[in-house]
Amino acid sequence: MRVRIAEIQALKERGEPFPCVTAYDYPTARIADEAGIPLVLVGDSLGNVVLGYDSTVPVTMDEMLHHLKAVVRGTQHALVVADMPFMSYQVTEEEAVRNAGRMLQEGGAQAVKLEGGHRTADTVRRLVETGIPVMGHLGLTPQSVNQFSGYKVQGRTLEGAKALLQDALELQEAGAFSIVLETVPAPLAKAITGRLTIPIIGIGAGVGCDGQIQVLHDILGFTTGFVPKHAKQYTHLSDVITKALHTYTEEVRAKVFPAKEHGHALDDKVLRDLLASTDGQQ
Ligand code: KIV
Repeated sequence: MRVRIAEIQALKERGEPFPCVTAYDYPTARIADEAGIPLVLVGDSLGNVVLGYDSTVPVTMDEMLHHLKAVVRGTQHALVVADMPFMSYQVTEEEAVRNAGRMLQEGGAQAVKLEGGHRTADTVRRLVETGIPVMGHLGLTPQSVNQFSGYKVQGRTLEGAKALLQDALELQEAGAFSIVLETVPAPLAKAITGRLTIPIIGIGAGVGCDGQIQVLHDILGFTTGFVPKHAKQYTHLSDVITKALHTYTEEVRAKVFPAKEHGHALDDKVLRDLLASTDGQQ
């Protein structure tokens, strides 16, 4: 039985902080699910950490759906949320409904995530009225990297902080079931979390949020590129993999691998008969 939105809401009401991670494929989704992570996001960070793009901007609906389906196949318990990629929900509300609908109907997600506050509130309302649960995303919204001129902390000025709180209230009023708050000062995130009745899920937003979300590849050290300040590396998978591949290379070169136990036996007689019957052939 999968975690439902009501259970995520209940975690806020009970004051129980909860962990969320991103996943993009079957094996990592399965590991996250078996570890008891209640909410898995198929983030459009897919573009940066898996597809090798330099931002989330190029990610398409087809790419999201392809990876979403694998994550849904890999999970039995987690609530799966699918990111709506750039330009899949900004042009018209009709397009937003159609694309979000595909995430649920074709992809198997339970909810979608959209970036933006005031500017997306009407779209959020329309999706929720259609029966599509929506997670909001405020603060550093990576699809706007070109507008922000980089990945910068948001909400540091009084004006910026007020706008963030206002955006969060608008999303809640529009029916969002939760909001991701990314790269905002911890005291502001705590204040917003206290003012809203829906769960606030922080990333680079301090310990005062209801839940935390992290990009799986960042916290597992499964990346060779930039690791954001907010990501604690709980292990260093890239180093583990590199070491394993070096050992593999050495063993192949030294004919240590494959050993007898990695092979398949052949009856001596079959081999003898084969050699005898083909004796003399090139
Ligand atoms: O795409 C993503 O991974 C995200 C998280 C950073 C919340 O939106």
